[in-house]
Amino acid sequence: MPASSRSLRLTAIVPRASRTIARLILVVLTLCAAGGSIAQGPAPQPRADQEPITPIPPPPVQDQRQIALGDRLFHDPRLSHDNTRSCNSCHDTSTNGAGVSPPDSRAGAVKLNIPTVFNAALSFRLNWEGDLRTLEHQVEQSLSKPQIMGSSVEEAVHKLQADPDIARQFREAYGREADGAGLVGAIAAYERTLLTPGSRFDRWLEGDANVMTAEEFAGYQLFKSLGCVSCHQGVNVGGNMYQRHGIFHPLASPKPEIVRVPSLRNVAVTPPYFHDGSADTLSKAVEEMGNAQLDRKLTDDQTKAIVAFLNTLTGTYLGKPVVPAGQLRQSDAPK
Ligand code: HEC
Ligand code: HEC
Repeated sequence: MPASSRSLRLTAIVPRASRTIARLILVVLTLCAAGGSIAQGPAPQPRADQEPITPIPPPPVQDQRQIALGDRLFHDPRLSHDNTRSCNSCHDTSTNGAGVSPPDSRAGAVKLNIPTVFNAALSFRLNWEGDLRTLEHQVEQSLSKPQIMGSSVEEAVHKLQADPDIARQFREAYGREADGAGLVGAIAAYERTLLTPGSRFDRWLEGDANVMTAEEFAGYQLFKSLGCVSCHQGVNVGGNMYQRHGIFHPLASPKPEIVRVPSLRNVAVTPPYFHDGSADTLSKAVEEMGNAQLDRKLTDDQTKAIVAFLNTLTGTYLGKPVVPAGQLRQSDAPK
């Protein structure tokens, strides 16, 4: 077919095709509008697929014996060189999965604010700088960093092999003698269970319309309209990208310049804030974020509403609400 007649036929077809497309779009739009009005009704309507934040999923299916071993190892001070601290000493899973001590308060202490281990498994990279991809690598690094455990995978395995009870538990979990891969794998498996579902915000996402107050909801709308959500989103309300901090105005200590955007899950119960722990209250952190990252001077009402929203992101671990460091969880409190 000559080129000219082909283009003639095309021009004849195109307008008809675009009319059909336009009609299709109209149908889709009408359907969407109908769906929208149904969502106002009383029946729970999951919103997760319409929002930039998704609920915490259930933990992955894993071998219970490996998880139990990991739980035990996470709480074992023999993993540190001088047997003084376990992972749990800095990441207390009976409270907020983070530490009580503000950075630099102890001799030789880490300069970085201690992040919570809760939901860490859901972030795309680990640590403030997001320098690690897997929990397994993170365990190796925690063991060997002088300011964390000051030990090594080999040293820890050597100590544990001498304990007949742990050696037995290793054999049950992995079908072989205690080794580095088992040690690291068991702790990582345990960490994958450290998820905190059941926050009020997640319940709202799942369709329970009455769990948020008007102020909390207004805070969420602000969180979206001001642009917080452009960095803090996804399942962890953060933890899925790198960003510069102090874009418009200086924020925390200038180094490192680029960090992984932290998760805001359980943020109300994990003070202090920022990689250097320089903000001790959530309202201060929110105000500073508006200023440093968005060049917005938030009003007191705006800050209050956003803080109220962030309070709805506190989840539960083993069925009990996550609480600030140093506080007893509801049913742990003496009766
Ligand atoms: C002395 C306190 C301390 C101890 C003990 C400690 N950590 Fe940490 N942990 C930290 C600090 C500080 C960071 C941040 C490190 C960084 O950003 O480079 C961190 C980061 C993490 C993270 C990354 C969290 C995230 O959101 O990216 C995980 C996971 C973690 N630690 C697990 C462990 C495990 C497992 C152990 C035991 C083997 C352990 N930690 C022992 C202080 C500690
Ligand atoms: C351009 C990306 C970006 C935007 C926009 C942004 N943030 Fe952040 N947010 C970050 C980064 C990066 C950090 C970590 C800064 C640090 O530790 O030095 C952070 C940290 C935080 C923290 C402290 C978390 C912790 O555990 O230490 C809170 C709270 C927070 N942001 C809330 C907000 C709010 C509320 C808004 C909107 C007013 C907002 N952010 C807008 C990137 C952003």
